[in-house]
Order: sequence, then structure tokens, then C-alpha cells
Amino acid sequence: MGEYIYLTPDILERIDRHLNKFPFPQQAIIPSLHDILDKYRDIPDQAVFELADYLKVPPSDIEGIVSFYDMFRHKKNARNHIRICRNLPCHLGKYQLLLEKIKNLTGADIGKNSPDGKWYIELVECIGSCAIAPAFLINDDLYDGSKIVSEEDLKKILSRYE
Ligand code: FES
Repeated sequence: MGEYIYLTPDILERIDRHLNKFPFPQQAIIPSLHDILDKYRDIPDQAVFELADYLKVPPSDIEGIVSFYDMFRHKKNARNHIRICRNLPCHLGKYQLLLEKIKNLTGADIGKNSPDGKWYIELVECIGSCAIAPAFLINDDLYDGSKIVSEEDLKKILSRYE
């Protein structure tokens, strides 16, 4: 393979660190995919081939991991990532109503980007904020879903990320 497009020197440096840590190159696949995801917010097909080439493992080994784990979903992540907790306290706090409002306003769905690429919704396990159930995150910002009474309240919050 000629020059890499996605495995830039900074990424290669990180991959080398993983390779030094583990006896088998297969063990470097997951941490390397995290590095690629961090940088590109996506695991492009070409990056899979480049990583396979660099680690000297079959591309199918990497493809298998990418398709197995949700976190490596094989498509462009939206600009804003909404994570809604679905565990018991948030369930009792009616996270489903919040989810419906968010879906309506953003056009995104669980595991699917909004058509404008601005939003991605994910249901997650407890985010350690049960006191403000239903809790949700937009990127790294934590919100108290119980304070969101109307769609207007939610619109105001979402507009901060437009
Ligand atoms: S259960 Fe939702 S934040 Fe803990």
C-alpha cells in the first residue's frame, strides 16, 4: 500500500504505542480504532484497509470488530452527539418522552444521524446523574431532563449547538 491517507503520523505514533504494549497486533486493533474515531469521528473504509496493512492483519479482522461494536458504527457521526440515559431512574423519569421530543426537533433517531448531519442520538446506560433523571448529555454537557417541560425549553438548549 502506498502512502496512508488516514493513518497520519500522529495516529501512527499512537498505534505504535499500542503495538509496543501488546504481544499480538490483533490486540492493538480496538485501541487503534478508538484513535481513528477520535480524530475523524468515523471509521472510513479506507482507514480499515490502512490499519490492516499497518498491523499486518486481514482487513476482515478489523471489519468484524467495526461491525460488532456500536461505538465504531461505520458512518459519519453527526456534529452533536446526544446521549440519553435509559436506566431505571431515568426510565421512571420518563426518558421516552424526552427522547420523542428530541427526535421531533432534531430529525435524528436512535443510532441514526439527522438528515442535516447535525445530530446523532444514542441511548446509554447510567451516566451517574440519576438525581436529575431523566439525564442526558449533548456532547460533554449534562442536562436535567426533568426541567424540560415544553418543546420550547428543548429548542432553547438545542439552539446552543446549531
Ligand atoms: S439511571 Fe440515568 S443517570 Fe443514572
